[in-house]
Amino acid sequence: MTRPYVAIRSGEPLHRRSFDVLVLGGGIAGLTAAIGAARRWRVGLLTKSTFEETTTFLAQGGIAAAIGEEDSPDLHFKDTIGAGAGLCDEEAVRVLVNEGPDRVRELMEICPRFDKVDGQIVLGREGAHSLPRIVHAGGDATGSEVSSALAEAARVGSRVQLYEDEFVIDLLTVDGRCVGALTLNLADGGLTLNVAMVTVLATGGAGQVYGRTTNPPVATGDGVAMAYRAGAAIRDLEFVQFHPTGLAVPGQQTVQLITEALRGEGAYLRNAAGERFMTEYDSRAELASRDIVVRGMVAEMRREGTEHVYLDATHLDAAWLAERFPSVTAGLREHGLDLATQLVPVAPVCHYFIGGVVTDVWGRTTVPGLYASGEVASTGVHGANRLASNSLLEGLVFSDRVVRDLDRYIGRLGEDVRRLSFDIPEGASGEGDSHAASARSRLTGIMQHKVGVLRRGADLQAALDELNGLTSELRFSQLGEAEYELLNMLTLGTQIAKCALLREESRGVHLRDDFPQLDDERWREHITLRLPEHERTEGVGRVGPA
Ligand code: SIN
Repeated sequence: MTRPYVAIRSGEPLHRRSFDVLVLGGGIAGLTAAIGAARRWRVGLLTKSTFEETTTFLAQGGIAAAIGEEDSPDLHFKDTIGAGAGLCDEEAVRVLVNEGPDRVRELMEICPRFDKVDGQIVLGREGAHSLPRIVHAGGDATGSEVSSALAEAARVGSRVQLYEDEFVIDLLTVDGRCVGALTLNLADGGLTLNVAMVTVLATGGAGQVYGRTTNPPVATGDGVAMAYRAGAAIRDLEFVQFHPTGLAVPGQQTVQLITEALRGEGAYLRNAAGERFMTEYDSRAELASRDIVVRGMVAEMRREGTEHVYLDATHLDAAWLAERFPSVTAGLREHGLDLATQLVPVAPVCHYFIGGVVTDVWGRTTVPGLYASGEVASTGVHGANRLASNSLLEGLVFSDRVVRDLDRYIGRLGEDVRRLSFDIPEGASGEGDSHAASARSRLTGIMQHKVGVLRRGADLQAALDELNGLTSELRFSQLGEAEYELLNMLTLGTQIAKCALLREESRGVHLRDDFPQLDDERWREHITLRLPEHERTEGVGRVGPA
């Protein structure tokens, strides 16, 4: 049985903090929610590492929004739905595209460094957008520009209390409501009960479950796993988006992303024979939606027996490439590669988790008091295949809505949950090696080889058996970040394999070699998971006056 709370080291004192609103996560979704909520409430924002160690910080492409003269929310809606392979939630997409332009303009007030020419915002193009609509900053350094500006606004211009290096062990629940989170400080090992009337989950994605990923080391799926343990519905876990152009050289921990904006500016994909091949697969060629480009690449690699194809930007102007793509240029140079003169080896790489914690269009999860925004959430805007550069936009738009809705939630609460007390189960406190590192490498190996970009039923079943075996073998002699992350990653990996095995079709980013066709009759639906009622409530900590 899955316990509602993960255990803590025995005999450890528990510190306590209380807030009106607790925000978990330091990327665009978390910072936007915290800054907005702090206008009215006492807000604490906890991030697992630093504000530079987030997926937002690494984002290269930019933010999609219908702000161009030729553009409209209707066109953005059509492109998003078109990419989503039949599973987008239309109401959520309407919210995204209609509210997006205002949220982006507000962000530009905080982050004035978006790229302009003659005072006009420059709009870039990416796959499956019918026209240029991506705003970017510092060329391909949008994420770091936006993150730094938002973190500065939170530090200096708002009343948000910021805490770095705070690992969330578990959400705190009382009678099925979320009332905060239990954390482990990674610098001093202290354990803290962070009690709050509202908790906003903005913990990002889970790329580390695959080992090879564009995501930073913090992306271990903690938010989805802890929300699931707390009783929240999660869905669409099989839809793991592989970005077509990860740099394919050995020995990278975090795989260098080669932004899609390069193809938007005219770069080609070539096979080992040096031929452009995407023209054979889609009339939009290299600018087809990501799932179609990945399918084309996989087919070419299989036909040629290779592990990668090539990105070719050698026909583009060298000086302009260096100015427009400074991060990619510098990253490639570290590998001895020159974008302007050489073909760059690229292969699909785990990039984005489309699935997550189910929310409505106000960011409300199925657990009262718990909101989710950003990559951890499943608002339904991405369907089965996310349109490029819609993810930062999703964080902006839905965090703004969370802020608007939580006023209503707190107003109706009528009880000060901050006085509650909790019994948290205690577990191992010994020294010794828990072998978490070797278990983690087994897990990532299984995911990479058996639940990767092209899936087969027999592999998925084998993966599921191995992951279940790995889970039942776990014996922790201590409880720290490595053990907690491993538990979360195993939860995610197991559920991804389970959902991928169930979905006997190919749709969007979910590619089944044994079921290559779309099957609308059976599968135009979400796979939603939720702990059974008795597992959500049994063993929940005692609640009493503080
Ligand atoms: C990219 O720059 O290609 C990534 C953008 C995204 O994932 O939306």
